[in-house]
Amino acid sequence: MSERRARILAVTNQKGGVGKTTTALNLAAGLAELRRRVLLIDIDPQGNATTGSGVEIGEDQPTLCEVLMGEATIPEVTLQVEDMGFDLVPANGDLTAAEVALMDLEDRSGVLKAALDPLRGRYHHVIIDCPPALNVLTLNALTAADRVLIPMQCEYYALEGLTALLNTIEQIQDSVNPDLEIEGLVRTMFDIRNNLSGAVSRQLGEHFGDKLYSTVVPRNVRVAEAPSYGQSVIHYDRESRGAVAYLGLAGEYLRRLGADPR
Ligand SMILES: Nc1ncnc2c1ncn2[C@@H]1O[C@H](COP(=O)(O)OP(=O)(O)OP(=O)(O)O)[C@@H](O)[C@H]1O
Ligand SMILES: [Mg+2]
Repeated sequence: MSERRARILAVTNQKGGVGKTTTALNLAAGLAELRRRVLLIDIDPQGNATTGSGVEIGEDQPTLCEVLMGEATIPEVTLQVEDMGFDLVPANGDLTAAEVALMDLEDRSGVLKAALDPLRGRYHHVIIDCPPALNVLTLNALTAADRVLIPMQCEYYALEGLTALLNTIEQIQDSVNPDLEIEGLVRTMFDIRNNLSGAVSRQLGEHFGDKLYSTVVPRNVRVAEAPSYGQSVIHYDRESRGAVAYLGLAGEYLRRLGADPR
């Protein structure tokens, strides 16, 4: 697949706090660093990808909420985040209103896809940061997406929710989005000293084969600090292990797509 038409990636795991936002934001920043045109979409009412990008939403700033309500187009709500090198579709708590409104629509999961379709020529990569739930917002992301990236923390309960997520992906493949594919699983907040991490990691490798990304994101305090400065870890501390890992992830993502990362 070429990079001529934007490739849309949903970063999803209904388990909370596994590193979805961190991965979506830093992958977006890493791809921008590799001179790709990138759009990051925040589809989580928590708005962590928005604040983590250093964006404060003013009173008059429309967000993804307006797009999903049919009141604005994506270009009308998109912000250029110059420090990051990517564009952002911001979100905040208003998104829960859109979530409720969507429930009244017949085609409730296809709204984001329809809004994104005209923009495919404008970006190389679109990355969607999903909320920690298999709700109608996540369904919109999975319907719009070409691929799903699943961040995983290698701990005991990590595998539990995976079946529900894989079932949901299958349902979407069988209905509205037959071309949806799992891009891969990424190990996040990895602690090499923890024996359990190694065991879960091996299990993931056995189950998912080459869908398991070889890039492993270590637990690294710089990664956790960066969002409070509204920066990616790549901008915050380029030499940190977290930054090196996320730049590596962007490279692996491009190589798997058959593109030259340089
Ligand atoms: N590699 C890492 N090293 C250290 N801390 C990390 C790392 N990755 C993420 N964190 C921290 O862990 C917390 C959860 O990460 P993040 O917000 O990315 O998860 P999430 O899956 O998006 O959460 P939610 O389900 O609430 O949306 C955050 O405080 C984040 O800064
Ligand atoms: Mg998040």
